Amino acid sequence: MTFEDVHARRDQALSKRVDEVCKEFTIDKSKLEELTYHFIDSMKIGLEPQGKGHATSKNMPMIPSFVTAKPNGTETGLFLAADLGGTNFRICSVELHGDHSFTMQQLKSSIPEELLEEEGVTSHELFSYLARRTAVFLKKHHDDLLKDGESTPLKLGFTFSFPVEQKGLDSGTLIRWTKGFNIQDTVGKDVVQLYQKELDDQGLSSVKVVALTNDTVGTFLSHCYNSGDSVSSLSGEISEPVIGCIFGTGTNGCYLEKIDNIKKLSEEVRDKLREEGKTHMIINTEWGSFDNELKVLPVTKYDIDIDQKYSPNPGYHLFEKRISGMFMGEILRNVLVQLHKERLLFCQYKTYEQLPHRLRTPFELNSEVLSHIEIDDSTDFRETELCLNQSLRLPTTPHERQEIQRIVRAISRRSAFLSAVPIAAILIKTGALHKRFHGEVEIGCDGSVVEYYPGFRSMLRDALALSPLGPEGERKVHIKIAKDGSGVGAALCALVA
Ligand code: GLC
Repeated sequence: MTFEDVHARRDQALSKRVDEVCKEFTIDKSKLEELTYHFIDSMKIGLEPQGKGHATSKNMPMIPSFVTAKPNGTETGLFLAADLGGTNFRICSVELHGDHSFTMQQLKSSIPEELLEEEGVTSHELFSYLARRTAVFLKKHHDDLLKDGESTPLKLGFTFSFPVEQKGLDSGTLIRWTKGFNIQDTVGKDVVQLYQKELDDQGLSSVKVVALTNDTVGTFLSHCYNSGDSVSSLSGEISEPVIGCIFGTGTNGCYLEKIDNIKKLSEEVRDKLREEGKTHMIINTEWGSFDNELKVLPVTKYDIDIDQKYSPNPGYHLFEKRISGMFMGEILRNVLVQLHKERLLFCQYKTYEQLPHRLRTPFELNSEVLSHIEIDDSTDFRETELCLNQSLRLPTTPHERQEIQRIVRAISRRSAFLSAVPIAAILIKTGALHKRFHGEVEIGCDGSVVEYYPGFRSMLRDALALSPLGPEGERKVHIKIAKDGSGVGAALCALVA
């Protein structure tokens, strides 16, 4: 056999194996149906009283947010908002003008690596860092308010985008960290108290943390503030915001649930809310934890390895680990390493140890790299070659790159298809599409994946049409990018506190 023959055979074997990998990542109509109905059941279980739907179990947490109304854009006032949800901390002041518009000043800081990565870091170290950054911001932009604040407290809404067991609008204990944080001593503590104590210690006791919220709730509220129930000028149809969601480093969503259905709230609390004329409450689903029991979710070898070997919270947030930006690159890395092990890719490296260090490093492959490969139509996949060289120091042949692109597209398509499941499920459970004749709905979304990943939104729509919503349902869903949830949204939470 000639040298060329050997290569041609290897190329063929690779393509065949990639066919199999792509198949493993495919989600068809019947799987979408099964997932959607299981999602509806999981929502119901999560709303049950503690025990059955208890947040620390494997169930989807379904956390009552204690926010009971949607803003309509006429709200006014000046509020502070703080946001911890990923590797950045943001503190801002938001002035709501009452006409859907606002002005904002902000300070963004990246969380020091030692707080994220080192063992033995304490809550005190994290929250005192947040309080010190808050002090820097206020001294720079609002020194005047700090003085006035002695008589009128400065209300702060705290967006904390991790699962918390919320006890009221201004109190919640951390259930578990997600997205790479791992400060064990925070689990079980009230994050509002931790932050307030450090603010007080910084001499900022005029700042009062009055509301704790999740980024999805903030996204929903900010979308409502910006758009209200919008009426199409052409058709006169009303489209109503019904879901707030994030597809970024993590994924999650919230929606309005009837208080009568939120059985996990005590009878007393529900009665009190009813007396106040409240009918609905926003539920933070924490859908990243949908089907932690793996009853219906698709499972590949790569998903198992990532969860068990490389993630800080094995057994939890398994839905998120198949969807979000933090994991898409890691899935690809695991597939590539496996195909190398099978001697189908990167055959110039004889052993695993010889592979470029970055390809052996968990979470080194960023989803941004996948977004370039996804749409690479350059000759011989030059763009992909450059990306893989730059990000992983990994040389590739044109055929390898072609096959890598197929794998990337299978991973992103599965992610987008799974993302359609909670949207379809919530719309069905709440009957949102049938509330008005010809009524339409808006989904306020934020996050790098939904905003920037090429084709993500249109693949999500394809899946909505294939889901039990069908093409007629899909046509009534408007996917909108909603910005500034953690600023405007948190300010709106502080306002209702
Ligand atoms: C993770 C968090 C959740 C957050 C989501 C998006 O899933 O657990 O609280 O909303 O990421 O940032």
